[in-house]
Amino acid sequence: MTIIVLDSNENSREVIKSYLEELGYEDDVKEFSDYSAGITFVKSLEMPPIVFVDISDESLIKQIENLRLLTDKIAVTSTDYSTDTIVKAMRMGAREFLPKPVLKNDLKHVVEMFSKPESEREVSASKIITVYSNKGGIGKTTIATNLAAELAKATHDKVALVDLNLQLGDISTFLNLTPSFDVAYVIKNLINKKEGTLLNAFEKYKDSRLYVLSDPNYIEQSESITPQQIESLFKVLKKSFPYIVVDMSSNIDPNSLKILDCSDLILFTTIVNIPAIRNAQRCLNLFKSRHYPNDKVKIVINRFMENDEISSDDIETALSEKIYWKIPNNYFSIMESINKGLTVSEVNANSNITNSFRNLASKISDDIVEASIIKYRI
Ligand SMILES: Nc1ncnc2c1ncn2[C@@H]1O[C@H](COP(=O)(O)OP(=O)(O)OP(=O)(O)O)[C@@H](O)[C@H]1O
Ligand SMILES: [Mg+2]
Repeated sequence: MTIIVLDSNENSREVIKSYLEELGYEDDVKEFSDYSAGITFVKSLEMPPIVFVDISDESLIKQIENLRLLTDKIAVTSTDYSTDTIVKAMRMGAREFLPKPVLKNDLKHVVEMFSKPESEREVSASKIITVYSNKGGIGKTTIATNLAAELAKATHDKVALVDLNLQLGDISTFLNLTPSFDVAYVIKNLINKKEGTLLNAFEKYKDSRLYVLSDPNYIEQSESITPQQIESLFKVLKKSFPYIVVDMSSNIDPNSLKILDCSDLILFTTIVNIPAIRNAQRCLNLFKSRHYPNDKVKIVINRFMENDEISSDDIETALSEKIYWKIPNNYFSIMESINKGLTVSEVNANSNITNSFRNLASKISDDIVEASIIKYRI
């Protein structure tokens, strides 16, 4: 495994190099003060290297994007460890952030982590984001599909979109896909297989980083799926996908509870009317009784309209929760996208609803990055 150090400061290059030597990597390290020479060297390598790239000077952040095309093992070092800088770097494709002066232990952790095969990497970094409502027809599939597509763009990472609405799944229709495999097939055949085989069971959405796993074709196949199998499916998916977006049914049954329990983030979706909000209250009580951590459940209002008779304040008071996100009502864009089997950004790149999904994806990925920053001594 080659380790590249890109840093224009001679002193910090020396420090990193000497630590890496002490850790036994002396034959693997190459250092560059000139970034373009370093990137040219990375291009010449057969295997993607680990790269430590210094971005203390803010203008260097864009180099991450160039490197990201060549390797996904990028760790950023910087004297500036403001949340803003870290989030920007992570968004560009850095995987790890090391505040300067770099500590030997942090370097050790990063090199060891990157040296593991992808399937053995820390699965805790992977997040299951589930769009849920205990009422049907609220917009779960619309949100899950468009959010997943935008997350793949915003994070430059692989995103799985999994249809766990096992009997009435719509994702393949929403994206006009004819998948060869489905959730039932993966559960039965692939759970113990290798990553490559698993990825083949997904339908890649066009030229994106979005991978779709559809619901089973036959109702009998979905009836035999158990909560234990769903848990094992998630374990396998977490090894391959940094983000897993889940669409599901509005039923509360053992499979649904397992999906909700396993989720890292639940986007609990409601619309603005009294019956929907009453149902939301009941469901939030259920989540409380299951002792979900405070930041696991976020309230999303779909089909939001300014000047609605029921105000956002009223909703927050009724639910005793802050609203996390509001998605505007835009019937025509949504219907056009569903009818054409495209994402809303593909049919209407500049509409208010496309912006809403794009900004929601950025907010979620930023929140996840911010939560992970506490891993380091900042
Ligand atoms: N933001 C929006 N603006 C306007 N219409 C919307 C919006 N979101 C969803 N819809 C409409 O609501 C309908 C139902 O959406 P969707 O199928 O995503 O809901 P669902 O919660 O997944 O339903 P089910 O419970 O049947 O799975 C869509 O056909 C679309 O017409
Ligand atoms: Mg649906």
